[in-house]
Amino acid sequence: ATRTPLIAGNWKMNLDHLQAIAFVQKLAWALDDAKHSEADAEVAVFPPFTDLRSVQTLIAADKLKIAFGAQDVSTQESGAYTGEISAAFLAKLDAQYVIIGHSERRTLHNEGDDVVAAKTAAALKHGLVPVICVGETAEDLEKHGPSAVPVAQLEEALASVSADSDIVVAYEPVWAIGSGKAATPEQAEQVCAALRESLRARLGDAIADRTRILYGGSVKAANIAGFMREPNVDGALVGGASLDVDEFAGIVRFRQ
Ligand code: G3H
Repeated sequence: ATRTPLIAGNWKMNLDHLQAIAFVQKLAWALDDAKHSEADAEVAVFPPFTDLRSVQTLIAADKLKIAFGAQDVSTQESGAYTGEISAAFLAKLDAQYVIIGHSERRTLHNEGDDVVAAKTAAALKHGLVPVICVGETAEDLEKHGPSAVPVAQLEEALASVSADSDIVVAYEPVWAIGSGKAATPEQAEQVCAALRESLRARLGDAIADRTRILYGGSVKAANIAGFMREPNVDGALVGGASLDVDEFAGIVRFRQ
């Protein structure tokens, strides 16, 4: 199966809307300079909600080959849900993706697998591609081994996914996020392969073969190539290193 790699930058709560415009302009320049081709990797940024309109306007006006998405979405359609943003709003803004179940939301906002499944359903209903995040803590790893927790989290999220759904899966070991201590490419491959087999067992070959499974956790320009050589790792979900244009462009140019 040939899958176009996806390099996704999760800005988390960084860059206001003016910084976002400057960042995306510089990124477009850096990628053009590098003769980055869409066939090499798809690039997506995930700004805070308040930046989405300015990022969308800039990308549309200059026809930039940069996709964008949100970092979270409501389980609900509309109504009395103060502070929430619906998938319908994101779709109307031409967002293609939405991150769901990031470990920071699971931990800091107590999002369980049921919420992740409901958000996944909301995203799919509105034509957004959910980037479903799974990953184990250091304690989980010690207790249950490498794949058990991420695979169980994915299986719960798949409740609302069908064989023809368009999804992305991101394997992010919690111990590797923001720690500077990335998993090894072999560790990432082992879990990404298990996640793909779980997709295959539940929903069939076609979705297992076409779904991009990303690795995330302390990815930088200097270590991306090792991950990308693994057959079941189809890209990266990048946090800290996605906030520096040259570093992020270096990750996109992993082949060079
Ligand atoms: O969503 C991104 C991940 O949490 C990885 O963050 O690249 O700063 O380790 P990091």
